[in-house]
Amino acid sequence: MNDNRLRTPCFLLDADELRANFRDFAGALAAHFSETTVAYSVKTNSHPEILRILREEGAAAEVVSDTEYRLARALGFESIIYNGPVKEKDSFLEAIQGGAVVNLDSRRELDWLAELPSDGCFKVGLRVNVTLPEDETFSRFGFDGAELAEAVTRVQALPNVRLAGIHLHRTSKSRSLEVYRHIAAKAIQVLQEFGLKPEYIDIGGGFFGHFPGKPGYAEYAAVLAEGLRECGARIIIEPGNALIASPLTFFASVIDVKTVRNERVVVCDGSRGDIDPFFRKTDYFKEFPTVEEGRQTAPVQTVVGCTCLENDRLFRLEDGPELHVGDHIVFRNTGAYTMALSPLFIRYFPRVYVRENATVRPATAEWTAQDYLNGYGI
Ligand SMILES: Cc1ncc(COP(=O)(O)O)c(C=O)c1O
Repeated sequence: MNDNRLRTPCFLLDADELRANFRDFAGALAAHFSETTVAYSVKTNSHPEILRILREEGAAAEVVSDTEYRLARALGFESIIYNGPVKEKDSFLEAIQGGAVVNLDSRRELDWLAELPSDGCFKVGLRVNVTLPEDETFSRFGFDGAELAEAVTRVQALPNVRLAGIHLHRTSKSRSLEVYRHIAAKAIQVLQEFGLKPEYIDIGGGFFGHFPGKPGYAEYAAVLAEGLRECGARIIIEPGNALIASPLTFFASVIDVKTVRNERVVVCDGSRGDIDPFFRKTDYFKEFPTVEEGRQTAPVQTVVGCTCLENDRLFRLEDGPELHVGDHIVFRNTGAYTMALSPLFIRYFPRVYVRENATVRPATAEWTAQDYLNGYGI
């Protein structure tokens, strides 16, 4: 199917690009370390097609709630990394006993360890608080200072539990190489302070994917190697954005054109909520593939979304081609923190197509009123 014939609004997932991203990042890491795990951050976009493809590629699933843990299990992930402050006790204990990597993030989780069978031999990790030089305030995650020391002591005191790793995820503003230099240095500092020889060091995610002028997979891997190669531990990374931003493209169509106070207003059937749920971005990677050569230009056009929010305004186009009803507006790089955060607002999840082996097929339909009611058992 030609992309211009897709029914909008919709996302198009490029399965080959997603596979290539995973292989490239895994390969970049494996070039420096003998044992590595690439765990996809499920929260970043949990569409089942994405999870299927990454599971087929051999990715682990990084989950941060009971819901995500159950989803990863249901979709057959063999390797699971369970993080975050909102784990539930049942899945926490099940995951540890099932051999998942479980990184503790709170004192209540330390308490739960007492409920593991006393005759077993289990492993856990601790999330270390990482506050970066670039931070305006402190990170709210992980154990810090005296509480980290207490957590290490409490785990080490348990005869049936071993402290197998440390976790140092940070999502930073800059996503710079400097962030990963800092994380690697922090890891080494913690290992030295507590005399640990861990099986794994989990660096977390927070990397750029394919973004002009920004670091790529190989550069991140090289920086991690500078800091961590000598420590002999398995290196785990948990990329979300770096794997899934670029393989998804959002397609909208122009559904109306009007004039307000002498300005041309172009209404489309997509919304800022579809591609920028925090309404923070100031521009997008956008294209107009259905606009033919030589189309008349307009001095200014404001392209607005389909919701009833006044600030659902996508972008202003100056001296661009006049957009007409039926034109497609294509937004690239829209896979991360978009679909997963879209509210059920006015119209529900849009349809998703998948391009795989050079053909495009509908993967999931848009959610209907009945799909919504089904969720409530009505
Ligand atoms: C623990 C953890 N790992 C990985 C990620 C993925 O981050 P990113 O999408 O920036 O790679 C997140 C995101 O919040 C996270 O909280």
